[in-house]
Amino acid sequence: MPKAKYYLHPFDFKKPNGYIDFIFTQDGLRPTVVGNPIYRLFIFELGILNQFRYISRLMTYDLRLSTIISDFNSQISQVKNKQELEEIRISFLGKKGFVTELFVQLKNIATEEKKAFGASINQARDQVTKELDAKKDVFESAELNERLSGEKIDLTAPIRKNNQGLIHPINKVMKEIQEIFSQLGFEFAHGPEIEDDFYNFTALNIDENHPARQMQDTFYFKNTPLLLRTHTSNTQIRKMIESQPPLKVAALGRVFRCDSDQTHTPMFHQFEGFVVDENITMGHLKWTLTNFLEKFFEVKNLELRFRPSFFPFTEPSAEVDINYSIQQGKIQIGKGDKFMEILGCGMIHPNVLRNCKIDSEKFQGFAFGIGIERLAMLKYGITDLRMFFENDVRFLKHFGFKPSEF
Ligand code: DAH
Repeated sequence: MPKAKYYLHPFDFKKPNGYIDFIFTQDGLRPTVVGNPIYRLFIFELGILNQFRYISRLMTYDLRLSTIISDFNSQISQVKNKQELEEIRISFLGKKGFVTELFVQLKNIATEEKKAFGASINQARDQVTKELDAKKDVFESAELNERLSGEKIDLTAPIRKNNQGLIHPINKVMKEIQEIFSQLGFEFAHGPEIEDDFYNFTALNIDENHPARQMQDTFYFKNTPLLLRTHTSNTQIRKMIESQPPLKVAALGRVFRCDSDQTHTPMFHQFEGFVVDENITMGHLKWTLTNFLEKFFEVKNLELRFRPSFFPFTEPSAEVDINYSIQQGKIQIGKGDKFMEILGCGMIHPNVLRNCKIDSEKFQGFAFGIGIERLAMLKYGITDLRMFFENDVRFLKHFGFKPSEF
């Protein structure tokens, strides 16, 4: 948009002629003669001339003000958008705007006139401001209307999918175990996943030449004595070294073995429990396991079969089987006369107690270890171990649990 230009009236600047130099005082009425005194005669004429000039200057200001206003009116009537409106605002009310300049010119006017002329500039400024604001409102409400019409809610649109997360069956089973064993008065402990040889093997009475220590079973860290724990039994050792009996402790967590096929994954979860006190027998072990398994599988009169076995850290050792049957292609735990292995257990070997500075003459203990994936597969009918760790969201959708069921 081209800017209008306002020139001062010619009388403002032009010297009357080449003969006289003079300076007007501030009010512009009384001339001071500078130069050859011979021209003092002209003073009177100059006084008249100056009066005329002054009046003409006032008229010029008035004229200028009305030109500015009419220019403003014509520009504002053609303005098309907010940006143009802002340009107009700057050119009229900005630091060097036309209206602002008029305020600067006020200083050239006699005090008596200043009031009236100042008031008319103020009025002009108010008018300009008001009209700019009104126009801005018009643009803004048009903008708002346009946005609102684009934001209309379509009530017939299909609803969004509910993407609420679900709880993984492994977490669900761990929670169930925690609940049952807390009720039985067990304390839950944590052992480190990165462990050293002593806690994972030596203290557990595991022979130097035990196959589990071989590279193909255990993940070792290069150039350190550290390894990834192969079972949760390390927590037994840590807990027994840390505190004296009576102990009733359970531990859950990840364990690692260098093994991967249809029935093995390099990482899986175990649950470990042990009790150390005076007069602990296999009867306590049997009661604890029966109680736990019946609660976990929500069955009564579950049949447990203790088969003699071997673990370096227990003596005697047993593997426990539970009864089941298959009905309409589905496994029914606690019904029927088939048996499957579910866990390993035994009486804590006196060497293990001694390695942990527990008096093995005075105290006895039982211990057991269970694979959590196996428990989850049996309880929730999951058929492939690898599904737990593939992170396929369809698996979670099918087998996952709502937080309310947790
Ligand atoms: N640590 C054994 C494993 O990883 C499981 C186990 C068996 C733990 C018997 C025990 C136990 O505490 O008494 O296979």
